[in-house]
Amino acid sequence: MALHLGDTAPDFTQESTEGTIHFHEWAGDNWVVLFSHPKDFTPVCTTELGEVSRLKPEFEKRNAKAIGLSVDPLEDHKAWAGDIQETQGHGLNFPLLADSDRKVSTLYDMIHPNANDTLTVRSVFIIDPNKKIRLTITYPASTGRNFSEILRVIDSLQLTDDQKVATPVNWNEGDDCIIVPSVSNEQAKELFPQGWDEKKPYLRMVKLDK
Ligand code: BEZ
Repeated sequence: MALHLGDTAPDFTQESTEGTIHFHEWAGDNWVVLFSHPKDFTPVCTTELGEVSRLKPEFEKRNAKAIGLSVDPLEDHKAWAGDIQETQGHGLNFPLLADSDRKVSTLYDMIHPNANDTLTVRSVFIIDPNKKIRLTITYPASTGRNFSEILRVIDSLQLTDDQKVATPVNWNEGDDCIIVPSVSNEQAKELFPQGWDEKKPYLRMVKLDK
């Protein structure tokens, strides 16, 4: 069954390059980016895993952890890790699930039979510390993901969980935000004493204090 935003991310136990993962326990009180890739020893996936390893400090800054998955066996993952270090300059520094029995890929609907009936597509799930699914994106096998975008969404989710704002198109940390429509101007005066730019009654741009 498809997983929807707001659903609890299913728990599982599976082998990985960092030992047995009991998912909810491993996630702890972190944000999690769970992502699948089609196959080991493939070029696009090699670049993605190198990039996520490079970005580890950016994940940590956001109290977030990455975990990858493919349906290949653990021995392949371990052998491939050497290639990732050699070609991308960053060794695999997060767990890669070995989902040969497709337990997790089935649970998370990561195999799309009309695209490929054996391999996982490039699914991404952002899961919050309450284990709720906050973002899903599915990319085709031939398109490497933009992990800066994934970090940008975590920034937006963390900000909008905390304050009564939403983030506009192409927003990045530090840019102006939007006061959510459910906040009246009276309430906004208390929440945003710095004032706002009212372009329309429903479009109020605000610069947040640092
Ligand atoms: C890749 O990661 O390079 C890839 C995997 C499956 C299909 C096409 C490309």
